[in-house]
Amino acid sequence: MNATPQARSAANRIPTDIHCAQDYEARAREAIAWPSHEYIAGGSGSEATLRANLAAFAHHSILPRLLRDTTAGHTRVELLGRSLPHPVLLAPVAFQKLAHPAGEVETARGAAAMDACMVCSTLSSCSLEDVAHSAGHDKWFQLYFQPARAATLDLVRRAEAAGYTALVVTLDASIQAPSIRSLRAGFQMPPDVRPVNLAAYPVPPQVSLEPGQSIIFQGMMTEAPTWKDLAWLIEHSTLPVIVKGVLHPDDALALRALGVAAQIVSNHGGRSLDGVPASLRALPAIRAALGNSYPLLLDSGIRSGGDIFKALALGADAVLIGRLQVHALSVAGALGVAHMIKMLREELEVCMALSGCPTLADIGPEILFD
Ligand code: FNR
Repeated sequence: MNATPQARSAANRIPTDIHCAQDYEARAREAIAWPSHEYIAGGSGSEATLRANLAAFAHHSILPRLLRDTTAGHTRVELLGRSLPHPVLLAPVAFQKLAHPAGEVETARGAAAMDACMVCSTLSSCSLEDVAHSAGHDKWFQLYFQPARAATLDLVRRAEAAGYTALVVTLDASIQAPSIRSLRAGFQMPPDVRPVNLAAYPVPPQVSLEPGQSIIFQGMMTEAPTWKDLAWLIEHSTLPVIVKGVLHPDDALALRALGVAAQIVSNHGGRSLDGVPASLRALPAIRAALGNSYPLLLDSGIRSGGDIFKALALGADAVLIGRLQVHALSVAGALGVAHMIKMLREELEVCMALSGCPTLADIGPEILFD
C-alpha cells in the first residue's frame, strides 16, 4: 500500500535530533512511505550521476584565510534585479503531496518564512495559484513545455497572473529516464497525488508508429522542445526566462544569445540522463564562458552550507535545494522547510566567517584547496 504519510504531518515540530540540515535526510526515511521515499531520494539508471554530485562536493576542501575582519558580513545577493537576503532557493520538486498532505503550499509557507525564493513545478500536486498565494514575494514558476503550444501559453499566462516573477524552463528532461530504484521499490503514484496544473488541458492523441519506428525518437521525442520553441517562449513571456539543466558551455552561450535571463547548471539531481558529470564539475567552464556578471545558479547534490560555499566559490551566484526541501517537509511541514533553510544559511555563514569571506563576492576559486 502506497499511502501518503498524513499522520506524520501532525507532528509540526522540529525533532530534537536534527543538528544540521542534512539530518532531515535520515529522518525522512521514517516520515515518507518507503516506495515514495525511493522515488524522491533515487536517481536514474545506475545512479552514477547521483553519486557523482555528492562526490564532487566532497572532493573540494576549503583553504581559509586568517585575521580578516568579517564583522560587516552578510549573505545578501542581487539576482534579476532583486536583493535576496541569502542565496538559498528551493528547486522545483514535483508531487510534494507524496511527502506531506498539504504539499507545495506547505513548502511555500516555509520558504516565505525564510524569505527564500521558491520555484513551483509544473507538476506540483497543489495548483500553481495556491502555491503562489502562500509563497513570499520571490517566487518563480518552473515550466515544462506541453505538447500543445496553447497549453504552454496558458501555463505562462497563469504564472504571470498568479504573481510569479520569472519562468524557469527545464530542458534536461524531455523524456523521463527510468529510476531503477523506484521501480524496484514498487513505486506507483498514489491516485490522490496528481499534476493538478495540467488537469484542464486535453491529453494529446497517442502517436501511431510505423513499423520499424522508435517509440523514443518518433514517439516521445516528437513532443520535446527545440531551440525554435524556446525562442517562441521568450517572445511570448512577459517574465524573464531562466533555463534549468545547462551542462555545456556552448549551450550556455547560445542560451544567453537567445535572450535567456539566467541559467541553472543542473543535472536534475541525477534524475535525468545517468552518466553526465556532476553539476559542480560543469560549473567552472560555464562561468568562464559567460563571464562574471551573468546570473548563474547551480543545483544537484547540495546537502550543507559547506556545499553552498563551494558552489559559490566555483562560480554560482546562488543555489537551489531539491531533495532536502522535501525531506524537511515530510518531517516537520513548513516549520521543517524553514528550519532546513535557516540551518543551511547558518552553515554557510560559519564557513564564510571561518574562512575570512565576509560577503558572497569574497568567495572565489582561490579559497578552495583544489
Ligand atoms: C525533481 N526535480 C525537478 N526539476 C524540475 O525542473 N521540475 C520538476 O518537476 C522536478 N521534480 C523533481 C521531483 C523530485 C522528487 C526531485 C528529487 C527532483 C529536480 C530538482 O529541481 C533539482 O534539480 C534536484 O533535485 C537538485 O538536486 P538535489 O538537491 O535533490 O540533490
